[in-house]
Amino acid sequence: MTKIDARRRTAVITGASSGFGAEFTRLFGADGWNVVMVARSGAAMEAIAQEIEERHGVEVTVLPKDLAAIGACADVMASLEQRGVIVDALVNNAGFSTYGEFWRDDPDKQSSMLQVNVVALTELSRLILPGMVERGHGRLLTLGSVGSFAAAPMTAAYAATKAYVLSLSLAMAEELRGSGVTVTCLCPGPTETGFQERAEMGDSALVKDRNLPAARSVAEAGYAAMQAGKPYLVTGMNSRVFAFGSRFLSRTTTTRLAGRAQRRT
Ligand SMILES: NC(=O)c1ccc[n+]([C@@H]2O[C@H](COP(=O)([O-])OP(=O)(O)OC[C@H]3O[C@@H](n4cnc5c(N)ncnc54)[C@H](OP(=O)(O)O)[C@@H]3O)[C@@H](O)[C@H]2O)c1
Repeated sequence: MTKIDARRRTAVITGASSGFGAEFTRLFGADGWNVVMVARSGAAMEAIAQEIEERHGVEVTVLPKDLAAIGACADVMASLEQRGVIVDALVNNAGFSTYGEFWRDDPDKQSSMLQVNVVALTELSRLILPGMVERGHGRLLTLGSVGSFAAAPMTAAYAATKAYVLSLSLAMAEELRGSGVTVTCLCPGPTETGFQERAEMGDSALVKDRNLPAARSVAEAGYAAMQAGKPYLVTGMNSRVFAFGSRFLSRTTTTRLAGRAQRRT
């Protein structure tokens, strides 16, 4: 699956303009895949596309799109069909968080977050999977989080979106068993990307004054898990311990622990 056969394979990557998405784009490109990049920041994606095309001789297409907009995924699908792109891998990576008490969240930002993290991820998967199933091969990678494993005060709605992503991904993976199409949910712990700044969570005990792992190493682990068809992967030692340990603790206890970890300092 990793190497190209007669036809170059194509990956569609959402949230490709920075962080994990940019690193996934580089990893697919280095393996000889063509890539379609989707996010809002066209100029940032163009720069990454040029870098990868020059370095690896693959074709990188930039599709600037706001995935919070109603109908955005249908537009992406129409653009792919218009270009005759056959999607061999879909990386549903676009997403963001807010930080603070749920009742104080900016309502518009919160709605956009639900739209990007949940609705767009679901719609794009639903639009692209049938072709993969028909062809008998495909890779779907979704971005969960350590927050997929417990309710998380201070990122309450965000963690709920990531619980949804893990639940949906595991169920899809099971439904697709034996079809040649695999679904992998990458669940990272806190990682150095544009995520923390976007969420304005610099005061969170989870990230403040901490050395976070680089996006590249986490993306590499997720990419390998996706190629191997693993159902999910948690990265980061503390996050792995928390995700595993949460099986043996009450829901209220894990919620309290998550709230303590994410408290404002
Ligand atoms: N970093 C962490 O600690 C961490 C931990 C667990 C899970 N994650 C997950 O990892 C994924 C990637 O985030 P990241 O950490 O790489 O952060 P990032 O550097 O902020 O990247 C987020 C990406 O999502 C895109 N995006 C945001 N809103 C969008 C919209 N309305 N339409 C289209 N694209 C949009 C951004 O592109 P534009 O702004 O150009 O649109 C950007 O490319 C997210 O799903 C996040 O929840 C991150």
